[in-house]
Amino acid sequence: MPPRVLVTRRQFEDQMDRLRAAADTVVLTRPEPATREELLEAVKGVTAIFAHITDSIDADVMDAAGDSLKVIAEFGVGYDNIDAAAASERNIAVGNTPGVLTETTADFAFALIQAAARRLAESDRFVRRGEWKWFDPLDLLGLDINGSTLGIIGMGRIGSSVADRAVASGMRVIYYNRNRAGDEHGAELVGSLGELLAQSDFVTLHCPLTPETQGLIGAEELKQMQSHAVLINTARGPVVDMEALTAALADGEIAYAALDVTDPEPIPTDHALLKMDNVTLLPHIASATVGTRRKMSEMTVDNILAALEGNLPPNCVNADEINW
Ligand code: DGY
Repeated sequence: MPPRVLVTRRQFEDQMDRLRAAADTVVLTRPEPATREELLEAVKGVTAIFAHITDSIDADVMDAAGDSLKVIAEFGVGYDNIDAAAASERNIAVGNTPGVLTETTADFAFALIQAAARRLAESDRFVRRGEWKWFDPLDLLGLDINGSTLGIIGMGRIGSSVADRAVASGMRVIYYNRNRAGDEHGAELVGSLGELLAQSDFVTLHCPLTPETQGLIGAEELKQMQSHAVLINTARGPVVDMEALTAALADGEIAYAALDVTDPEPIPTDHALLKMDNVTLLPHIASATVGTRRKMSEMTVDNILAALEGNLPPNCVNADEINW
């Protein structure tokens, strides 16, 4: 019997063909994610799951798959949707796609910094509403990037690449991280999160979602930011307390937010943030270029094919916790 592989969303066909050559492959091709019930049914007896951020792969899903399950390969670098501890307990490898999306995501985060600084989305809506009647020397004024301070929370691969772009654009860059970054990319480590928030004109989040970073930016932290400051989130929605952010934007505690990720995703269509002009909202597209999404798909398939051959996935996040 060939091994079975479940791919939870539609994917690049050439990569699916690589899986089909090695395994009985089921691709859930509907554009929308599987419901919980559909997922629990579809995983039965599979050896590998090609997973996406939209799937919660917890112990129940692993147990529904059964003893055959050897690898869960995430299409993405963040794998907070997978209970990696539960996978390790069951000797299941968890793979991800680090590196290939670094520059694309950093480009996008920097694009959001620029778009927020110059109020691009808001100005576009203003024109489309037919409200642009004349040139106004005092309307829609933004912030200069050059000479401003950028605060980076999470100086890993993506944070460091954002630092490169910011330094090249004449920004002062400071960062807050658990440890000093080996190569600081022209950025200075500050002693506390509070110090970073108080000094930054722009704050950009690049930390993974973990129990420690959940709600990292809440009411207290937003109060420590400057009233003209901008918050950019391309990391994970739950790193920011959305209710506190909505209040801070409404009360003028901070000036602007640009969010590629929200909590929940998608953001409910009646959420107060959708009615506010000082927010740019995007549908989790930081890594969404043809080239990068292709590479992510290929790496996810590489992780699965290695495991089907009995080898550790080349990008395995729990290699030290499993016994293969
Ligand atoms: C990632 O790579 O983590 C992206 O956010 C897609 O999940």
